[in-house]
Amino acid sequence: MKKIGVMTSGGDAPGMNAAIRAIVRACTYYNIECVGIYRGYQGLIEGDFVNLNARSVSNIINRGGTILKSARSKEFMTKEGRAKAYENLKRAEIDGIVLIGGDGTFTGGMIFNEEYNFPCIGVPGTIDNDIFGTNYTIGYDTALNTVVQAIDKIRDTASSHNRLFFVEVMGRDAGFIALNAGVGAGAEEILIPEENMGLDRLLESLKRTKRSGKSSSIVVIAEGDKIGKNVFELANYVEENLKQYEVRVSVLGHMQRGGSPSCFDRVLASRLGVKAVELLLDGKSNVMVGLVNNKVETTELELAVKGHHAINKELIRVSDMMSI
Ligand code: F6P
Repeated sequence: MKKIGVMTSGGDAPGMNAAIRAIVRACTYYNIECVGIYRGYQGLIEGDFVNLNARSVSNIINRGGTILKSARSKEFMTKEGRAKAYENLKRAEIDGIVLIGGDGTFTGGMIFNEEYNFPCIGVPGTIDNDIFGTNYTIGYDTALNTVVQAIDKIRDTASSHNRLFFVEVMGRDAGFIALNAGVGAGAEEILIPEENMGLDRLLESLKRTKRSGKSSSIVVIAEGDKIGKNVFELANYVEENLKQYEVRVSVLGHMQRGGSPSCFDRVLASRLGVKAVELLLDGKSNVMVGLVNNKVETTELELAVKGHHAINKELIRVSDMMSI
């Protein structure tokens, strides 16, 4: 292993730069070259590469986004696209790659590895925290803090106007952000894809909340929630059925993916980045590095993609009790 490639792919996440920095500097430490691949798999197909050294990654540990840019490449899903990617890697004499991203990124890596037996190591970077084989993904902690700060602000205005707010947070398939930020911000109800609360129970719960004398209510809803209505339809439905409420909607959107990474995400990214390089140097491939019980562990990429990272149901109970 003389030259390692690194890319960020899929939705960006705060802390991806800290991971790039760790990978580049670990390469320097072990006396090997490091090449940055721009725009994920799309840059791999187009041969959009840059040589990186320890100084190229100065002052990025604190920056959100990714200096290597990110993309979701349709072309890499085709055999022809992957063949071009392989040719570019050979031409640049890259011996292995570190893929920073989520399940889509790892699925691409697995297929590529199967076809070309090319060494790939995954580093989990997504705000969703929906990856099996790690307690935390890079970016999740920062996103949680961003969401809690936003909801705190919404609470100020909700309480001044005695309003009910529906706050939609990211999480297509997973409720980690909704559940944890919901508890952290003291939400009255939390709607997540993993649990279908049902409309009737939601109405009952909101009636109880009003009766308890609260001046404001916050319902946090994950974008992938399965209640059967989008957040605006849900708000209308509640307003029509519970006349005692004046309802507003706030969709937090992509601001959740931005911002300077938290200390936790920087440290996590540094630990996982170093381990990813060491695994390639040890001749390992097709695995993801993750943090399990505060130890850096590896999981087969296939398991990381297919396994289910379950939410902590204790938090649902705690939330129910706290929103009394
Ligand atoms: O996977 C990360 C994520 O932020 C999801 O929570 C969200 O559903 C999706 O990406 C949004 O993707 P895009 O940036 O393509 O709109």
